[in-house]
Amino acid sequence: MKRSQFLKNALLSLGATVVLAACGGGDTATTPVENGGEATAGPWVVGTEPAFPPFESQDENGELVGFDIDLMRAIGEQAGVEVEFESLPFDGLIPALQAGTIEAAISGMTITEERAQTVDFSRPYFRAGLAIAVAEDDTETTSLESLEGKTIAVQIGTTGAATAGTVKDATVSTFDSAPLALQELSNGNADAVINDAPATLDAIATGNIGGVKVVGELLTEEFYGIAMPQDSPNLEALNTALAELLENGTYDAIYEKWFGTAPVGTLPEAAL
Ligand code: ARG
Repeated sequence: MKRSQFLKNALLSLGATVVLAACGGGDTATTPVENGGEATAGPWVVGTEPAFPPFESQDENGELVGFDIDLMRAIGEQAGVEVEFESLPFDGLIPALQAGTIEAAISGMTITEERAQTVDFSRPYFRAGLAIAVAEDDTETTSLESLEGKTIAVQIGTTGAATAGTVKDATVSTFDSAPLALQELSNGNADAVINDAPATLDAIATGNIGGVKVVGELLTEEFYGIAMPQDSPNLEALNTALAELLENGTYDAIYEKWFGTAPVGTLPEAAL
């Protein structure tokens, strides 16, 4: 089975309403905005943590590939700005935006209230949610509550890490990347991983991780946004380009390339 087909089925069987119904979609209700005249000429240096397929990863030649990468390149083209990627640790992206060393970050980053106090986000571009992964033979774990007192592996600085931190008496082990956290589970050194469902499902689908399954319902509904420094002069140009791609079919084509299906449903215009 093609990976995209597997992922599609997996997403569907995961209680579909949450992941799929939602995954994205050309929202036609966007109001055209004037292209931000004062946007910087570029290049825009765009930070990403590229160990998060199918959103961002490195191929065998070290080239960045993934849904986010294609989307960001398309946004650059649409906005007439050159885009240059810079690989950074996930928990270093917001500090880099604050320091002004990068113009944007695209990294499957969930739009949260807390982050929105220090950076500005584009309109939502993807609907995701957290899922619990456990060993294939685990029959006990059914919910977040059932992880009480267990060891949970997470990627540092993520919404998954924050959610794991709410579980009573759990030991949370943090890793620099989601694949490392999943490996810990696969090795039997953790009882569970809390990570974005599309990324965990992709790791299972591609065989990057073995002996692991996703349980239960999604824990959250989250929207990804592209982050920019607060009051960035580029935010309007970014949002305009993204809205155009959502309308003109480019977004759908990129979505289909990485998820094997057209986006179902629409994205809200704001997440908070
Ligand atoms: N969506 C989650 C968050 O914002 C995880 C993102 C992880 N992204 C990555 N490229 N490693 O916290």
